[in-house]
Amino acid sequence: MMADHKSLLGISELEPEEILEILDTAEPFKEVQARSIKKVPALRGQTVVNLFFENSTRTRSSFEIAEKRLSADVLNFSVSTSSVAKGESLRDTAQNIEAMNADMIVMRHGSAGSCHFLDRHVRARVINAGDGQHEHPTQALLDASTLREKLGKIEGLKVVILGDIDHSRVARSNMFLLTKLGAQVTVCGPPTMLPAELEKLGVRASTDVRKSLRDADAVNVLRIQFERQHEPLIPSIREYARYFGITQDKLDELPNGMVVLHPGPMNRGTEIGHDVAEKHAGTILRQVSNGVAVRMAVLYLMSGAEVQN
Ligand code: CP
Repeated sequence: MMADHKSLLGISELEPEEILEILDTAEPFKEVQARSIKKVPALRGQTVVNLFFENSTRTRSSFEIAEKRLSADVLNFSVSTSSVAKGESLRDTAQNIEAMNADMIVMRHGSAGSCHFLDRHVRARVINAGDGQHEHPTQALLDASTLREKLGKIEGLKVVILGDIDHSRVARSNMFLLTKLGAQVTVCGPPTMLPAELEKLGVRASTDVRKSLRDADAVNVLRIQFERQHEPLIPSIREYARYFGITQDKLDELPNGMVVLHPGPMNRGTEIGHDVAEKHAGTILRQVSNGVAVRMAVLYLMSGAEVQN
């Protein structure tokens, strides 16, 4: 059970039953968001600190909305205006935040493993909001919640993860989650963006987009993470868009419809065509809405609190 975990550091450490517990708990929280008063008192009296060392649009605002809808006291810690800018270490920063009796810390950081490090040094629960190219567990959970809405299940689905797999924490968390729940996963991208030893993760690897998509139920499209690349991995963006971008002409060739997911931020004209982004905007924005419900579920389950209506 999620309440047995001190922290949520990655999907890799969760049992399938715990993933389903989060997804099932998110469902009533979706209903809370449709109410005129979108608030429940589940985290009243608890303090949650959002500690973001990397840029974020969706994850940071989604956690903040989720925390406020659960009635938590929320502190958004601004790294750029804090003493981190004066050289204070992550450990000292976190321990100072904890000295103010924070119950949970939601952290995004550019270094893989930073959330594990933090977890070892604070009593507060730690929720990983993305650590380097390691994991982004709540993104995979909201992707799964959206797939369940659109396709009714995860088990048995054929899902393609397309793009810069090697540098993507979204890809890693999705690979763990989807294989744990019995989906068949193919990762597809240029050979320079596919990590080694993918078979150990129980996924197939391909460099042929059209072939990968042919019998898939869904595709999760990733942006190229230039900020984590140390050398050029593709000849040009134009070539990448032509061969690996998800375009309407590639989708038109498929015998069946396709659920198109994108975690954002989107680079239209590179990994996703403008027309595809427009046509599938309902699903892509539904991922964002589901992100709030899924994060409410994670916060609620980890707090061990009872829901009161
Ligand atoms: N999907 C995602 O993590 O987006 P942000 O970087 O905007 O949080």
